[in-house]
Amino acid sequence: MWLPCGCTSKYVASSFARRTLASYLHVSGRSRCNVAAFMPEAAGLEGVSGRAALRELSVSNSESFWAAVARHRLCWSTPFHTVQDCDLSRGKIKWFEGGKLNVSVNCLDRHVHTCPERVALIWERDERGSEMKYTYGELLEMTCRLGNLLRRHGVKRGDCVTIYMPTCPLAVASMLACARIGAAHNVVFAGFSADALAERIRDAQSSTVITVNQGVRGGKVTELKKTVDTAMQSCPTVKQVFVAMRTDNPVTMTARDIAMEEYVFSYHDGDVFGCVADIGWITGHSYVVYGPLANGATTVLFESTPIYPDPGRYWDMVERLKINQFYGAPTAIRLLLKYGDQWVNKYDRSTLKTLGSVGEPINTEAWEWYHRVVGDGRCPVVDTWWQTETGGICIAPRPSDPDAEIVPGMAMRPFFGINPVLMDTEGEVLTSNNTSGALCMAQPWPGMARTIHNNHQRFIDTYFQPYPGYFFTGDGAYRSEEGYYQITGRLDDVINVSGHRIGTAEIEDVVNQCPAVAESAVVGYTHSIKGQGVYAFVVLKKGIDVQEADLSRQLNGMVSEKIAKYASPDFIQFAKRLPKTRSGKIMRRVLRKVVESDLEGLGDLSTLDDPAAVQEIIQGHEKLL
Ligand code: PRX
Repeated sequence: MWLPCGCTSKYVASSFARRTLASYLHVSGRSRCNVAAFMPEAAGLEGVSGRAALRELSVSNSESFWAAVARHRLCWSTPFHTVQDCDLSRGKIKWFEGGKLNVSVNCLDRHVHTCPERVALIWERDERGSEMKYTYGELLEMTCRLGNLLRRHGVKRGDCVTIYMPTCPLAVASMLACARIGAAHNVVFAGFSADALAERIRDAQSSTVITVNQGVRGGKVTELKKTVDTAMQSCPTVKQVFVAMRTDNPVTMTARDIAMEEYVFSYHDGDVFGCVADIGWITGHSYVVYGPLANGATTVLFESTPIYPDPGRYWDMVERLKINQFYGAPTAIRLLLKYGDQWVNKYDRSTLKTLGSVGEPINTEAWEWYHRVVGDGRCPVVDTWWQTETGGICIAPRPSDPDAEIVPGMAMRPFFGINPVLMDTEGEVLTSNNTSGALCMAQPWPGMARTIHNNHQRFIDTYFQPYPGYFFTGDGAYRSEEGYYQITGRLDDVINVSGHRIGTAEIEDVVNQCPAVAESAVVGYTHSIKGQGVYAFVVLKKGIDVQEADLSRQLNGMVSEKIAKYASPDFIQFAKRLPKTRSGKIMRRVLRKVVESDLEGLGDLSTLDDPAAVQEIIQGHEKLL
């Protein structure tokens, strides 16, 4: 029923050798040549050629044959001294005595050494056409992480871990992880009942079980975690159950259960979590202080700025502090993109695993740069949407999921307990996909705000009055055909040009795709004919020398082509910088007042990072008119 798979056991050595040999002897031609090529010099088999002769030799001189195979097909940490000591009459079976090897090293490490990019697993998932590939490098990483996780939770050599999972890469990695740390694994078919599972757990005396929340087979969902819960009633030896997520549906976790991932950033024990937000901002509260500390994480406190003393500051810090998760704002990414790739490439970023973005829509160019340059194309970028009022991340991709598709610039999928809905202008819920509306939440969740200090009525009026029965976020969102969410910006930032409603973020995204542009901000202004006109502020990348009139024409052309002619800016003002809050958000309210020439109404500027930026903007605006 179960296969002991300890890293140094003789049993493992012999069983692995048998499997390996069997597998190549079953294929013809090429493999036979391989056998012939490696055997003669090692086992005095010169002159042996052809399958029949080889087979004859494997029986007549089996010790030499198996010794040659074992030496040439496997990596031994300690070579064996005796090939075999077997006596069938007494049931004594001993192979490769004195030898030590690790099965997972043989399956993974040696291939990663020579060809890390070779595909090791092709996962043909239940959902037809959604297959996924894992390279040897990726499988090794997954295996090592799991091995470390098991070790940290006290699993040691000789223990037996029960794996109750569907056929998936995580199950393979779990098996290899057990082998790696010298634990035996007891893989139980995921179709077995709670009783059958319990019997096998008791038989193996497992204290650890690995499972998934739900399985998916033939289009049907099976409640694997619930089956484990039932089995636990008659398995007193089990101390811990690791639970991975195969589907999005949360499951009830007990004190015995351990989630196998943190969900957005794939944080694992021992990682260094680098959120570069200021603690005066909600991101600093939730993802520098409370979140990381509550989870026993190591959290970085970043006191400086992204360009002090130079634009390599973040990546220099990543190298020195060995940061694994980096979480920052699109505004900083756009700023750094301006200075060029060399500031990133100077530093070793190999520790990075996940890159996060928060606070604003991240435009396509910034997303691509973050992913390709900062993350070397290997780190998932998680565009996380949330607000001060929501307390924590509400919509975000989950790279650790098997369904880990990530679309640039999309917050993607609601997090646990979050039930987003889109509303039309009449306050009706939009049920179809491929649609846009006001983003509301249909259900409460524990992290959400409870009131506004000393002004509960304002709380009600702002968040619950616009769409009775729903929490109103104030943001607009688009839900794609696949059901993924993309935040289109504050609803106040939607402008109406000649009856066409358009999010300013959409225009900014196109403008930012121009290679000369570092960032932009688009606002509406009162237009006597169109109702509202489009006014764009554009900051160029460092060292760009162009004729502003030429560039304006180019940008207008891009917007007309990619969105529509009506969206093309009536005014383009080139600026050295944009007015921003200290948390990096562009102060669009200020820009709107400037273009409306309402300088009296600029309002409270105390949160501005650099008030001089407003003066520059005012002067530039006056020059343009
Ligand atoms: O408009 C959304 C935008 O930032 C607003 C919340 O700002 P604040 O309360 O300061 O919290 C910032 C940190 C969470 C949202 O209403 N926003 C936040 N994240 C994103 C975003 N817009 C687009 N994409 C995001 N990922």
